Amino acid sequence: MDEFDVVVIGGGPAGYAASLYGGSAGLSVAVVEKEKVGGTCLHRGCIPAKEFLETAAVYRTVAGAKEFGVQASQPAVEFAVSQDRKQKVVDQLHRGLQGLMKQRKNTVYAGTGRLVAGHVVEVTAADGSTTRIRGRNVLLAAGSVPRTIPGFEVDGRYVLTSDEVLSLTALPRRAAVIGGGAIGCEFASMLSDLGVQVTLLEALPKLLPGCDQDVADAVVRSFARRGMTVRTGVAVHGHEPGEEGTTVRFGEGEEVVVDQVIVSVGRRPLSDGLVAEEAGVAVDERGFVVVDEWMRTSAEGVYALGDLVATPQLAHVGFEEAMLVVKQILGEPAVPVNYGAVPWGIYCHPEVAFVGMTEQDAKAAGIDVVVKKDPYGGNSRARILGETEGLVKVICEKGADGRAGRLLGVHMVGPWVTEQLGQAYLSVNWEATPDEIAPFVQPHPTLSEAFGETVIALTGRGLHVG
Ligand code: NAI
Repeated sequence: MDEFDVVVIGGGPAGYAASLYGGSAGLSVAVVEKEKVGGTCLHRGCIPAKEFLETAAVYRTVAGAKEFGVQASQPAVEFAVSQDRKQKVVDQLHRGLQGLMKQRKNTVYAGTGRLVAGHVVEVTAADGSTTRIRGRNVLLAAGSVPRTIPGFEVDGRYVLTSDEVLSLTALPRRAAVIGGGAIGCEFASMLSDLGVQVTLLEALPKLLPGCDQDVADAVVRSFARRGMTVRTGVAVHGHEPGEEGTTVRFGEGEEVVVDQVIVSVGRRPLSDGLVAEEAGVAVDERGFVVVDEWMRTSAEGVYALGDLVATPQLAHVGFEEAMLVVKQILGEPAVPVNYGAVPWGIYCHPEVAFVGMTEQDAKAAGIDVVVKKDPYGGNSRARILGETEGLVKVICEKGADGRAGRLLGVHMVGPWVTEQLGQAYLSVNWEATPDEIAPFVQPHPTLSEAFGETVIALTGRGLHVG
């Protein structure tokens, strides 16, 4: 039986990050993958979704060109071409990842992995043949799949999840998106920008439930302005296909006829059949593998990470968890992930990016806060771009002198905010105060000045903002 320092089940962001990072530290690493390395993020999630959102951005730019004095005809979408481009981007990144894994001397086993006793992983290939390998350490990183809801069986024709949407070659004319979380908002935004008539149905009273209220409100305003129907606090009851599309029933006797329904109600961990009873790995009632803050499972030398555990389902959280595990295996000092202060990015239009506590979280925790929010409308670069929707909101702990102290959270909605979060992320994680950050110079004119200006104002005296 081949033996490795590390055997990883699952080659998604968490698994491949462990194999790359472990490989670069000289560990022998095997990765068991049943499809393609890169996982959901690369093949059915982050990368293809953002690629299509970029198609929507190009469409908006061309449609708005006249305002800049650039003559262009009304754009039309050839979604099959967008699909080809998306696939090219994904394939290039996939080849790049395979190259990196080769360079780090990772061994990839094609098949489905199952952990049995004694750190042995059984790999079942597509043809049914099995191979057994052993890891001095085993990492479970099998990821997640879209959740579904009763009354909306996924059939690829009327009802789709993100998996199916990302391989469409033609757009529906009308779509209902069920679930207004990150995935729902990204798809609703992309489809609406490309001319699809979108109805977004969310069970909770608010879209983007984890986001600050001001941020969620800005997204809803923008969606509504662009002609999308957004309904919150409504239950969905099922759908009936008819002559023309399918009728979705929701709320108190309401319905909407659409061509396709996109279900984006969360993702569930893919732990089915992953560990044999004798492996001694505890799995909770929702299917998440149980871990402590070091990603250790109940079995010695077995770790779990990524979407398989109940931590934020974000690729970069998977990366971080992977490095945390590898450092422990190497016997190096390591620090658990601070989940309350990881960066979040949602790529709908307008984009959302945040780190740390919302104003509502802070108040609920009984913390006295000083809050400052400034709209992008006052930012010169945003004016130049013609992208003035949104705001930057900084939440600080109130000091004994009543002034703004340590930054607890930064919440942004607006143009390219996912690219602007970096300095806010550092500030919150550094537990910096506005007095400490304000002297750092921001380049002008940039969108990133917006955060700097808000921070300067929080010292008690503003420059361009009051
Ligand atoms: P989510 O948990 O973010 O949102 C699901 C939404 O569906 C919630 O608002 C929930 O209230 C709603 N919902 C649940 N059942 C419903 C029902 N029966 N009817 C109507 N609404 C219902 O899950 P989502 O958007 O599917 O994303 C899955 C995971 O993927 C998230 O945890 C997120 O972290 C991650 N993700 C992150 C992205 C990013 O960072 N840009 C992008 C996409 C996904």
